[in-house]
Amino acid sequence: MKRKPMIAGNWKMHLTTSEARALAEGILKQTSDVNTGEIDILIAPPYTSLAAVSGTLASSPVLLAGQNMHWEESGAFTGEISPLMLKDVGCTHAIIGHSERRQYFNETNETVNKKLHAAFSHGLIPIMCVGESLEQREGRQTFSIIQEELEKGLDGLTSEQVQSMILAYEPIWAIGTGKTASPEQAEEVHKFIRGWLISRIGNESGRAVRILYGGSVKPDNIEGLMAKENIDGGLVGGASLKADSFSQIVKRSL
Ligand code: PGA
Repeated sequence: MKRKPMIAGNWKMHLTTSEARALAEGILKQTSDVNTGEIDILIAPPYTSLAAVSGTLASSPVLLAGQNMHWEESGAFTGEISPLMLKDVGCTHAIIGHSERRQYFNETNETVNKKLHAAFSHGLIPIMCVGESLEQREGRQTFSIIQEELEKGLDGLTSEQVQSMILAYEPIWAIGTGKTASPEQAEEVHKFIRGWLISRIGNESGRAVRILYGGSVKPDNIEGLMAKENIDGGLVGGASLKADSFSQIVKRSL
């Protein structure tokens, strides 16, 4: 089954508003010859730059995502951003459950689950991240950790919702470390996730879900990753902060 690839840039806590606008402009320029009927391009700037970048992207096919969100629509939650606010500023997607959120900000499978439900009730497409630490990999717990993240994270979602979301496998040991999982290591886990999806929502629907790989994706390793059957794109951190490298990753994914 042919799935449309996606390259998503996660800018994390980088760039001022003017820098963010300039990067978005650079990406638009350098990907202007890319047929977005064949590949989805998405960027996730920090909250403070969403409005500016949304303006820059207007009438372009490049998609906009929040890096996180709260599950409530509004309320006394100092420092949080709601799904309604992400929608309002022009986001179509939201990254949910990134390992940095889980590691540093007490994100759990339960809060991930609440956020996934909230994203769907506001018409946002979630990009849900799963992945194991080095310790868990070495302890041969990779599959059980991923399975638990999937089971608890996706609890109560309908088959239609699961089919329409995007998953990202991001081994924690490969994020920002320069140590990419080999295409074989990544594919092994992507295949496991695919199998889980098929058992959850059926063969055809499970095969339709896009699973991105994230963790030190660069222009020179994306082709090997994309050649694998169950790798449908990349969630890119460091290399998404330069228009050049991000655009090259997009072009080499086709
Ligand atoms: P990295 O980050 O590409 O800098 O490793 C990936 C991510 O955390 O999404």
